[in-house]
Amino acid sequence: MKVSQLLLAMLVSCAALSASAQTIIKFSHVVAADTPKGKASEFFAKKAAELTKGKVKVEVYANSALYKDKEEIEALQIGAVQMLAPSLAKFGPLGVKEFEAFDLPFIFDNTADLHKITQGAVGASLLAKLEPKGIKGLAYWDNGFKSFSANTPLKNVADFKGKKFRIQSSKVLEEEIRSVGGIAQVMAFSEVYQALQTGVVDGTENPISNFYTQKMHEVQKHLSLTNHGYLGYAVIVNKKFWDGLPADVRGQLEQAMKEATVYANKIAQEENDNALAGVKKSGKTIVYQPTPEERLALKKAMVSVHTKMADRVGKETLQTIYKETGFDPAKL
Ligand code: LMR
Repeated sequence: MKVSQLLLAMLVSCAALSASAQTIIKFSHVVAADTPKGKASEFFAKKAAELTKGKVKVEVYANSALYKDKEEIEALQIGAVQMLAPSLAKFGPLGVKEFEAFDLPFIFDNTADLHKITQGAVGASLLAKLEPKGIKGLAYWDNGFKSFSANTPLKNVADFKGKKFRIQSSKVLEEEIRSVGGIAQVMAFSEVYQALQTGVVDGTENPISNFYTQKMHEVQKHLSLTNHGYLGYAVIVNKKFWDGLPADVRGQLEQAMKEATVYANKIAQEENDNALAGVKKSGKTIVYQPTPEERLALKKAMVSVHTKMADRVGKETLQTIYKETGFDPAKL
């Protein structure tokens, strides 16, 4: 074969290869598939395949199948996975402490107030702070408001005293537990069920969708619907990978993400409501609805966390959030 023929053959096979090459996006997360995040990531995978006409395949790995909490972000940074949706608390240990503002107890009264932040300028500026870490933030996805559980009733502030609660790695959450006299224990999400079962910790906090799908109701006798803090996610990608995608494909994926975000935020409350119904139906956990007075007492005890943590999360971020939502800790 002549050199020119050989070159031509090589060119043809290269073109064929690149035309058929499929981009794989590994999307890893730590919760069950039937949660707001689990369902939204599957929705994104489907949309991505549809809009890119199969050029991109999103593989979703649920339930810490690939990585546990701490390892997840490191894996993304080195490109072992391309996409994640860690809870916002997970960005504190990465050094972007402003994200821990979302962990402040009672900072958001409702989802509308929260969306003023996640869907506004503050949310965008926080995502931009991830870029020097090699991470591009694409969207915020809701889960919901957290409740506390334990094997003993949690009605009054005094009920938290001396109890050990599993938390995510967050200085703000540590302070939250301390503010009511509890002991905070940082632990990966995948280890919580066993820790509750064996009594390594007495209780925990999470939205009910996480509580129920991890079967924590099997090992916790009491659930108190405190709604004391928010838990949601930032969908992130490896920035180098994302920037290296052909512009048209990236645009299609952005569209898929836009639709997945609408879907995620639409189903979140419903998923939590269904999970609560599941917990009640199981008959294994006594669900308690605190009275407005009991909830206010918890709020008053926990609001000290805002002042203590203001320097850590950044006074400016905090003031902007207060201004947007109308929350004033001094008024309690
Ligand atoms: C937790 O660790 O409790 C949560 O971050 C789990 C999750 O991703 O919802």
